[in-house]
Amino acid sequence: MAVSSLWNRGSLIKPLIVALITSTLITFYIFSTSRLLLQHPPHQTWNHNLDSSAKLRVFVVDRHNKPKQDDESVTLLLANTSSSLPFPQPFPFAKAHLQQYTHQLEKLVRNNDVLHDKDLFKKEYKEMNKSLKIFVYPHKKHDPFANVLLPVDHEPTGNYASESYFKKALYKSHFITNDPKEADLFYLPFSIASLRNDKRVGVGGIQDFVKKYVVEISEKYPYWNRSGGADHFYVACHSVGRSAMEKAIHVKLNSIQVVCSSSYYLSGYVPHKDASIPQIWPRKGATTINGPSLRKKLAFFAGAMNSRVRENLVETWKNDSEIIVHRGRMKTPYSEALLGSKYCIHAKGFEINTARVSDAIYYGCVPVILADHYDLPFADILNWKSFSVIVSSLDIPKLKQILEEIEYDHYVKLQQNVMQVQKHFQWNTFSKDFDVFYMIMYELWIRRSHLRQIY
Ligand SMILES: *[C@@H]1O[C@H](CO)[C@@H](O)[C@H](O)[C@H]1NC(C)=O
Ligand SMILES: *[C@@H]1O[C@H](CO)[C@@H](O)[C@H](O)[C@H]1NC(C)=O
Ligand SMILES: *[C@@H]1O[C@H](CO)[C@@H](O)[C@H](O)[C@H]1NC(C)=O
Ligand SMILES: *[C@@H]1O[C@H](CO)[C@@H](O)[C@H](O)[C@H]1NC(C)=O
Repeated sequence: MAVSSLWNRGSLIKPLIVALITSTLITFYIFSTSRLLLQHPPHQTWNHNLDSSAKLRVFVVDRHNKPKQDDESVTLLLANTSSSLPFPQPFPFAKAHLQQYTHQLEKLVRNNDVLHDKDLFKKEYKEMNKSLKIFVYPHKKHDPFANVLLPVDHEPTGNYASESYFKKALYKSHFITNDPKEADLFYLPFSIASLRNDKRVGVGGIQDFVKKYVVEISEKYPYWNRSGGADHFYVACHSVGRSAMEKAIHVKLNSIQVVCSSSYYLSGYVPHKDASIPQIWPRKGATTINGPSLRKKLAFFAGAMNSRVRENLVETWKNDSEIIVHRGRMKTPYSEALLGSKYCIHAKGFEINTARVSDAIYYGCVPVILADHYDLPFADILNWKSFSVIVSSLDIPKLKQILEEIEYDHYVKLQQNVMQVQKHFQWNTFSKDFDVFYMIMYELWIRRSHLRQIY
């Protein structure tokens, strides 16, 4: 059948064909341009307006920050200015841009600081501290769900304490405003952990509770509707939170979800829009930390066998004298093991997140992250490769080799950096600058909506 006869068939066919052609063209356009952008011929040489002796190699590094010398490497050799740019012509790379681009890449690749960009962080933090304003939907003490909506009046405990700590800290902070007009963000104060423990709701009732809550605030106040929830956020640490928004789809798609279960693999979590926070076992104050030389064992793990990764890890290393792995609870104190090992393994359990990362950091032990697809806490602020070792679960058999290949000097640097990030993984009864509360505020600050309707 010819296209022309289809064309005359009826009014529905025409828009369909137009749509088909348009989408084909768009697909072709995206395909052709993205190919261009993704093309990284190995050892591509670009010339650059620099001193002829200046050479910059931008390399793909392996897990020890050692450059890979194989064909996957992208090498920029900036040596000779007189020959032409051998890059595909349509690529819009002015020499000035190339310089800026390579400068940024160099900074990123060579950065061993615990922050990706110290200057930017300092500047933005100050601005955030001064101007970020948050409106909390108000609830009364006699609200039947006050236990879920208001801060707890005791010191938070347990694995999911981050959720309760945050609410307590926020209520006491200078970020709160009672004037919604000056608010950058709106806080949805329900606690997923409290809903789960509330007999009237339970795991099965969380989705309906959240749905009803959002309908209520969107009818009572104008703020939800004007942005579809994009300037709203909630904080949850319990893993049941990952399906809590299934009946409140705009919370999932538009709002900022500040959560502990931050896996690139979960459909409920949207990386970059949402923010990852650490699970932290509450501990008061600081403890005495062993320096590198007092850490006699190479690596340590103990925990329940609730994932393939853990089974694998323990099965592979159970007889080793350097890597100590333990099924379930140990008879000796947990803290002793964390203080006596160079590396402390965070192996995913039911979830990618557990409190082990912050346990390791608290005891000055370099975390080894064995949790594929984990969007690590504060990863857009903190340079995780400067204070941790990230290992793919496929590399469990090579774990010892990987850790032993890290030179002592490099280890000492990693350990010092762990000490530097400690403050970012600490809750305080009275929040302190740069502690986990302020880090969360910063995550919110960089995600605040720039589009706002003025009433
Ligand atoms: C730079 O390249 C040009 C052309 O390929 C060549 O003639 C010249 O000798 C080179 N200069 C240096 C310093 O290598
Ligand atoms: C942030 O604000 C608080 C409260 O105004 C203040 O005490 C603190 O010094 C500020 N911190 C920084 C780094 O500006
Ligand atoms: C917001 O939108 C919902 C659904 O369209 C509507 O029921 C509600 O009345 C609106 N809220 C306000 C304050 O206008
Ligand atoms: C560990 O030791 C036991 C007993 O000596 C042995 O049967 C087992 O094969 C060893 N496992 C590994 C992974 O080396």
